[in-house]
Amino acid sequence: MKRIAVLTSGGDAPGMNAAIRAVVRTAIYHNVEVIGVMRGYSGLIHGEFVKMDLGSVADIIHRGGTILHTARSQEFLTEDGRQRAVQKMKEAGIEGLVAIGGDGTFRGAAALDKLGIPTIGVPGTIDNDIPCTSLTIGFDTVVNTVVDAINKIRDTATSHERIFVIEVMGRNAGFIALAAGLAGGAESILIPEIPADVTTVVDNIRRGLARGKRHSIILVAEGVGDVREITEKITKLSGLETRLSILGYIQRGGTPTALDRILASRMGAEAVRLLLKGERAKMIGIAGEEIKSFDIQWALQQKKEIDLDQYNLAGILSI
Ligand code: F6P
Repeated sequence: MKRIAVLTSGGDAPGMNAAIRAVVRTAIYHNVEVIGVMRGYSGLIHGEFVKMDLGSVADIIHRGGTILHTARSQEFLTEDGRQRAVQKMKEAGIEGLVAIGGDGTFRGAAALDKLGIPTIGVPGTIDNDIPCTSLTIGFDTVVNTVVDAINKIRDTATSHERIFVIEVMGRNAGFIALAAGLAGGAESILIPEIPADVTTVVDNIRRGLARGKRHSIILVAEGVGDVREITEKITKLSGLETRLSILGYIQRGGTPTALDRILASRMGAEAVRLLLKGERAKMIGIAGEEIKSFDIQWALQQKKEIDLDQYNLAGILSI
């Protein structure tokens, strides 16, 4: 293999730049050229290619976002779009691709591989909702961002003796809410995987009040449903002053944690090593300390389960 490409697609995640850097530098180390594809699969269709060199990835390991930009391409979901992408890659002499992103990115990677371009997927999403890997690039950073926000909101919640409902991202999954709720000592955590009744939340609040707790933090994953309705219900049932804080897009930005940079560096490098070994249609994952790879089609059919022990522990520790 003489020339490969790298792209980032879907929602950006802190650590994507560290992954791009690892792909570029590992490939160059092995005398392989690297093409950066701008704007994900959309850039692939439109031939938005830039030649990457060692300097092009200097000073990015600590930056959030992605220097290659990202997009959610509707065009790439069509057969015609995918064929055009393959055509552009062939014209540019690209023999393999590393696609960094979430499950949509992996579906695209699997489709490209079927069309003849060896592709490896690197899990980059704050949501951590990718099976076969305990961590995705960006998850550790977002959890730290949310915990930092909880700490700050707790200051004002304590001062005003209020209930705070905080909505966090995660699409249809509750991994961010669970990890940040456990680390931030949230009084209740609502996630889509485990249906919970608002009356239980209010019972928790009342129990806390009875033992002198003057404030509560309720962490709600966006996938649970309309957070405004949930907040209204809590206000009505508890009769207490309640405020809602939707953290929104600050969760996607910021400098990646050391853990995310190390994870991204290891995963990016492994993706290149796999391509050079002739492997294809794989996704990279981490289990314990070990970097592993899995058949991407098979991985896409698996479901990542929420850690029930952690969920139960969060409940026990918030009594
Ligand atoms: O997948 C990452 C994520 O930030 C989700 O948590 C969120 O639901 C979604 O992207 C938001 O997407 P968009 O950037 O298209 O609004």
